[in-house]
Amino acid sequence: MTATVTAQAVDNRTFWTNEEQKLDQQVHAALFPGGQTAIDRLAKQGKRPVRDLINELIDPGTAFYELSRIAGFGMGYPGVDDVPCGGVVTGIGKIYNNWTMIFANDSRVKAGTYFPITLKKHMRAQAIAERCGLNCVYIADSGGAFLPMQADVFPDDQHFGSMFFNMARMSAKGLKQITLSTGGNTAGGAYIVFMACQSIMIDQKAFSFLGGPPLVKMATGEVISAEDLGGARVHTQVSGGADHFCTSQEEAIGRVREILCLEKPQQVQIQRFEERPPTVPTDHIYDLLPAGIHQGIDVRAVLQCLADDSMFSEYKRDYAPGRGDNIVAGKIRIKGLPMGVIASNGVGIIFVEAARKATEWIVRCSQEKIPLLFIQNAPGYMVGSESEHMGMGKYGADMVRAVSCAQVPRIQLVIGPDNGAANYGMCGRAYRPHFLFHTMRSRTSVMSGRSAAGVLLSIEERKREVKGNPMSDEEKQAFSEKMINKYDGEAHPFYCGARLLSDRVLKFGEIRDWLAMAFEVSLLAPIGEPSFGNFRF
Ligand code: COA
Repeated sequence: MTATVTAQAVDNRTFWTNEEQKLDQQVHAALFPGGQTAIDRLAKQGKRPVRDLINELIDPGTAFYELSRIAGFGMGYPGVDDVPCGGVVTGIGKIYNNWTMIFANDSRVKAGTYFPITLKKHMRAQAIAERCGLNCVYIADSGGAFLPMQADVFPDDQHFGSMFFNMARMSAKGLKQITLSTGGNTAGGAYIVFMACQSIMIDQKAFSFLGGPPLVKMATGEVISAEDLGGARVHTQVSGGADHFCTSQEEAIGRVREILCLEKPQQVQIQRFEERPPTVPTDHIYDLLPAGIHQGIDVRAVLQCLADDSMFSEYKRDYAPGRGDNIVAGKIRIKGLPMGVIASNGVGIIFVEAARKATEWIVRCSQEKIPLLFIQNAPGYMVGSESEHMGMGKYGADMVRAVSCAQVPRIQLVIGPDNGAANYGMCGRAYRPHFLFHTMRSRTSVMSGRSAAGVLLSIEERKREVKGNPMSDEEKQAFSEKMINKYDGEAHPFYCGARLLSDRVLKFGEIRDWLAMAFEVSLLAPIGEPSFGNFRF
């Protein structure tokens, strides 16, 4: 028995280590677009890759928590399939010990221009900053809108103008918006300089103008250099559109830090306990989670790898065994921060009893103003007449209502199937979790490939029968395989990560650190009062 378990653990670990190597490769492509040639081109322009600047910007010896690194791959935009990293680096780091949201255009990716995915990523980071009360630093070097797609990036809400709308509103709330311009900021892009609370420009490197020299020549006949039109000297000494003149990237980074050095220290809005390591190593998760996505899991064992002292104080542990415990609920601490947990267990199908327990727990944690961690591994709510008649729809809806209305910070971590309405009840993207993390075991889609193939095949079979042209066995098989591949492909963390359906694909070994950071940041803003509306009982 022990030998079998150990062999299984070894297989699991090997499998997930290989999967995470694929993640490493994808991340490498995001971090080094254009390879060494692009870095050499930057050097010729007197610039360094933006992550080097970010590392100098944050407090020495601290980590930069970079978000959504695999955004933008395989997007299939006109003439551009991949936009590595979405063309903009976003993430959270500490400046003078205060968590700060940092943005940086990567000029190696089509001159840092904004594609639809670039906007989505930029605005997701702004939304986190606004909700959690973080100051923002923008390292700006962008050609503005990606012009071949202007209709998809310029005119609408959540398009280009929304970035500046967000800056204005955050600054009105007292959240500092600091721009360091390291390169071109043309047309709409110029507003990132002019909308900032304070902006810094670098001599001979940074430009900011509503129309660049070619447009000015066309419109007015004036012939003028970029430097004379809207360089650092012009805006810091003449127009007053920028506030600080620097002569190098190093000096400019130092100036951003200086501007933020007297900010009020942040404080978490919850009682923090002493931090204690888990008694089970976090990386034991590699042994625990089966390679088969639909194989059952022991989520209590996973919690032991994440929680301080591996302590899980469980709610209603003995309630409705085999049905109620497909969700476990309770409290843990991560790096001293207490939180409520709602976690899928076993195969994760949500029965009435599990849904009711989860709803109760969400309400209790909201009353206590304790944040919530959702660990998602659920292929859906239980179907069938027994379940329907017991009120599965009603109790599932209660869970969705509780998740929607809870005022406490909510974070979702997906470690397996994430399908159908279980995605709602377990705080999927539409329920606006403060952070949403995937792992290489996540599969987010309306249903699994196998279920989708079954449903769609039965529809197709009926249609073909009506037409008097029934499907052959080979056609049925080919149809099913095509659907399975499509659905499984679209559920994959790479597909979802490319489209920003997660804030990061975490390695199992990173989960504890990332959850600690994400809860700490989410707990900086005051927690609202509980208010849930109309449950059905
Ligand atoms: N839309 C689409 N593509 C753009 C672009 C834009 N706004 N700006 C630059 N690009 C593309 C270039 O065509 C080039 O593509 P390629 O690598 O396939 O050849 C790539 O981005 C790099 O541009 P390049 O001009 O070589 O970079 P640079 O570092 O020398 O100059 C800028 C950067 C931003 C100063 C310069 O590209 C520029 O002035 N762009 C136009 C800016 C503009 O007018 N924007 C208005 C939109 S609101």
